[in-house]
Amino acid sequence: MRTTWTFSSAGQIIFGSGAVRQLGDVVKRLGLKRVLIVTDAKLIEAGICDEVQSSIAAIATLDVFAGGEPEPSLRVADECIAHARAFAPDGLIGLGGGSNMDLAKMTAAVLANGGTPRDYIGEDKIPGPTLPLICIPTTSGTGSEVSASGVFTDQDNHIKVGAMSNYIRPSFAIVDPRLTLSCPRKVTADSGIDAMTHAIEAFTAVDNADFPLPPGQTSLYQGRHPLGDCLAEKAIQIIGANLVRAVESPSDLAAREAMALGATLAGLAFSNVGVALVHALEYPIGGATHCSHGAGNGMLLPYVMRYNLPARKREFAKIAGLLGEDVSKLSEAEAAGQAIVAIEKLNRAIGIPATLSQLGAKREQIPDFASKALGIARLIRVNPRVPTVPDMIELLTEAF
Ligand SMILES: NC(=O)c1ccc[n+]([C@@H]2O[C@H](COP(=O)([O-])OP(=O)(O)OC[C@H]3O[C@@H](n4cnc5c(N)ncnc54)[C@H](O)[C@@H]3O)[C@@H](O)[C@H]2O)c1
Ligand SMILES: [Fe+2]
Repeated sequence: MRTTWTFSSAGQIIFGSGAVRQLGDVVKRLGLKRVLIVTDAKLIEAGICDEVQSSIAAIATLDVFAGGEPEPSLRVADECIAHARAFAPDGLIGLGGGSNMDLAKMTAAVLANGGTPRDYIGEDKIPGPTLPLICIPTTSGTGSEVSASGVFTDQDNHIKVGAMSNYIRPSFAIVDPRLTLSCPRKVTADSGIDAMTHAIEAFTAVDNADFPLPPGQTSLYQGRHPLGDCLAEKAIQIIGANLVRAVESPSDLAAREAMALGATLAGLAFSNVGVALVHALEYPIGGATHCSHGAGNGMLLPYVMRYNLPARKREFAKIAGLLGEDVSKLSEAEAAGQAIVAIEKLNRAIGIPATLSQLGAKREQIPDFASKALGIARLIRVNPRVPTVPDMIELLTEAF
């Protein structure tokens, strides 16, 4: 039984519209002279990379790796590392959604410690601190700017894989909601429902006191604890109230600011408490169908909630209220069910697919998805119910 819990984050969070103007001060405080910006063509096209470059061009020598891609492959990580080695930076900036931030995290780890990205997949495999790393999110979703994870697509094995280590929590997270104004509708929707999934999985995780950690093992994820609850609860409420608005009115800065806050709070919660069965299932499903991480999670979320409901009635009833459902006249069990209805409604409103087949999966892939998901122990043990292969086949058949 665990009796203590901890909380970790990025070294510092600088939050607010215009926050990116403080990048120059941050680079000076870190004493950086050669900075590699890890980004992609879309962020260059949107003018965001230019804004970042011009704010520090007088302070440091800059280079840009623009080869980032959505759901980055381990191969792109190798390319980014080769590019970085040739430039020899003393610090990195991850600029973009979770994909580019994760690429920057892995590159900063390999440059400082040697080895290859494959050596660092799994938990606590990174041997020491990374190069100084600043993450600047341009989506409101992953929470990677504060988290201890970097997620990649292993194309050889058709699965998403993750490196988890407190060493890859960025030194600075600069969260400037203005940078999300140019997010296309689908990116806003998919990354937003990913953030909601982080918050719900953290809020309904196994309790810290019951965290099923085998003797001798350590885990960055610790199960539910009071600080995680505060953050997750607030994140559910804020994202629930603002995601449709951000999708429908992309230039609504207030909605973008709320979503940026909600996603960061959710990142702080899940990166300490954990994410669970939704994410475990999304890893093989995303690896096979190439759906976005958010679309996969959003599609799975109501099905996994229904599966977890018996173990977390009180929390689901609370979530229904946080999502704006009128539960005043309902029993706890009825209110809990309304949380699932509210998520299904939200998914429909923002265009998240409702079934596995809509994501492009094939029925015969279900057993493989089930066994691969259950193999991801670090996520499965966070789930409030212990899933079995038959449970998962039933859940995925229902979701098909
Ligand atoms: N490290 C973590 O803790 C963590 C957590 C959850 C998910 N992830 C990973 O993050 C990735 C998903 O990240 P994401 O949802 O942020 O999307 P993304 O980074 O994959 O970006 C999706 C697309 O949107 C574009 N884009 C991003 N911001 C934009 C903007 N402001 N304007 C115009 N275009 C923009 C990108 O160029 C890209 O083409 C997945 O690989 C997922 O597994 C990581
Ligand atoms: Fe996620």
